[in-house]
Amino acid sequence: MNKDVNHREVLQDISYPRFAAFYTWMTTRPRLTRWVDPLRREIVGQAQGSVLEVGAGGGQNFPFYDADRVERVEATEPDEAMLVVARRRLPEAPVPITLTKATVEALPFPDAHFDSVVATLVFCSVGDPEQGLHEIWRVLKPGGTLLLIEHVRAQGKRAAWVQDVLVPLTTRVAGNCHWNRDTRQAVLSAGFLLTKAREVQGGLQPVLIMSTIRPLQSE
Ligand SMILES: C[S@@+](CC[C@H](N)C(=O)[O-])C[C@H]1O[C@@H](n2cnc3c(N)ncnc32)[C@H](O)[C@@H]1O
Repeated sequence: MNKDVNHREVLQDISYPRFAAFYTWMTTRPRLTRWVDPLRREIVGQAQGSVLEVGAGGGQNFPFYDADRVERVEATEPDEAMLVVARRRLPEAPVPITLTKATVEALPFPDAHFDSVVATLVFCSVGDPEQGLHEIWRVLKPGGTLLLIEHVRAQGKRAAWVQDVLVPLTTRVAGNCHWNRDTRQAVLSAGFLLTKAREVQGGLQPVLIMSTIRPLQSE
């Protein structure tokens, strides 16, 4: 887990303005919010203390932080088009939030700094998920929680095959989104301990809701 991070090596220019505009519109549709907002409330509501949110997008999670549990949030997002939308959402947040332009692979924060890290619908798009998880591990305090909502690789062989076939298209049109990532396995391989997980929806886009901790002691 002590993989060194060379920040310059992993800095990437992430800019998908058309996807940002579409995603911003899509995530305000009542059909979607009725379904996804309870999941956001469930996972974001577990964050406590000093919180890091990675890939915050247009600030879709900001209204769901619990002011009784959270002191402040450092929200990071690499895409300027998303940051513009997130800045507009800051007044909706019930807790103080600071926005920083950064990728999850190169987080500009000290070691063992946060009590919770939140990532929702992010790891499908990250260039180097393994490096991103190493970075989250580094900035999370031992005993801190990593809270995730991610759409993931289907468990059925046929659905997973269709996901694999679709990935060249989804990465092109949806901001580098990979429909076929086994994010549960990636998180466990990075050393996090599972405290709670369930999958909802299924089909080609099963959605994983997952709470994990960075163990107090590790090799
Ligand atoms: C589908 S959006 C999800 C936005 C928001 N978290 C939500 O729940 O609606 C994926 C987000 O991940 C961001 N992203 C892509 N690559 C990233 C990276 N390497 N590090 C951090 N965030 C990244 C994108 O810019 C985008 O804002």
